[in-house]
Amino acid sequence: MIVLGLESSCDDTAAAIVRHTSGAGGVVLSSVVVGQTDLHAAFGGVVPEIAARAHAEKLDLCVEQALEKAALTLADIDAIAVTAGPGLIGGVLSGVMCAKGLSAATGKPLYGVNHLAGHALTPRLTDNVAYPYLMLLVSGGHCQFLLVHSADRFERLGGTIDDAPGEAFDKVARLISLPQPGGPAIEKAAVDGDPKRFALPRPLLDRPDCDMSFSGLKTAVLRARDKVIAEKGGLTVQDQADLAAGFQATVVDVLIEKTRRAMAIYMAHAPSEPALCVAGGVAANTAIRHGLETVSDENTARFIAPPLALCTDNAAMIAYAAAEQSSLRDPDDLTLSARPRWPL
Ligand code: KG4
Ligand code: ZN
Repeated sequence: MIVLGLESSCDDTAAAIVRHTSGAGGVVLSSVVVGQTDLHAAFGGVVPEIAARAHAEKLDLCVEQALEKAALTLADIDAIAVTAGPGLIGGVLSGVMCAKGLSAATGKPLYGVNHLAGHALTPRLTDNVAYPYLMLLVSGGHCQFLLVHSADRFERLGGTIDDAPGEAFDKVARLISLPQPGGPAIEKAAVDGDPKRFALPRPLLDRPDCDMSFSGLKTAVLRARDKVIAEKGGLTVQDQADLAAGFQATVVDVLIEKTRRAMAIYMAHAPSEPALCVAGGVAANTAIRHGLETVSDENTARFIAPPLALCTDNAAMIAYAAAEQSSLRDPDDLTLSARPRWPL
């Protein structure tokens, strides 16, 4: 089947067309993502009202471009998929309304998809990974371990109890005067830094579960920074590098140790083709990827990190999730509602 997907739950407006036959794997015929970074830059974060308006303006255009790039028309599409939550409600509503309009006008079935399910199923789309697999979803807004049993059964093993790691990277970058987005800036600065100069806490590492916490770490960086500023009157490039390296090393330590625990729970299910998968913008971080690879090697599991364009927010993952779910459930109807919260 050929599915047109829409995504508008945060600050990317996206449309994509995916072809799926059966089982694992799909072909992305087109994927269009229009970011809104410029619109929110002056405000230091995503402004929900501005985001919703921009989605409403850009969705039609994204759909047109996705069809054009795939050299298809709406008549060739078998189903319409849309992120129905969780996310910023105005944006999710824009997408749901657009998808309902397309479904009503064309008579094609409509599927509301959970955004997190979209991320979690991406390794099926790109790498034909077999169920069950372990997924670490790690981005600016999410951080959780999911045991993926099927296209509609996800078991949450744990996750952050406060900030997501990407959010912590962004906030720490601001604290030490590095540019946004903070993740790449910190990774770059950390190359020349001494990760051992500042002793930073590794929260919740003493607890045996898979939960994590990153907000205390951010506060610890703030204190370390203030101490340096009080002593020297400002931060040198080396101070920035050392703080960046210390912070990044701590996030890696916490993520890796908790992944080890999640992996132990997963391996107890005796999967026939064990795989550790990662998705989300933070998966771009080389140190984090290496750490995760180490854990998968320890367990002789495959390590799967989909290409970054499919790891970050996109609509191909939404179209693919709907395609796989279509054999497990009925389509939604025009009463489909947008959900700001929607646990998997
Ligand atoms: O998945 P994503 O594109 O968007 C949402 O979270 O919605 O993730 C963006 C996050 C940002 O917080 C950014 O700082 C972080 O991913 N990020 C990184 C790196 N590249 C992006 N974090 C650490 N290291 C990186 N290289
Ligand atoms: Zn996302």
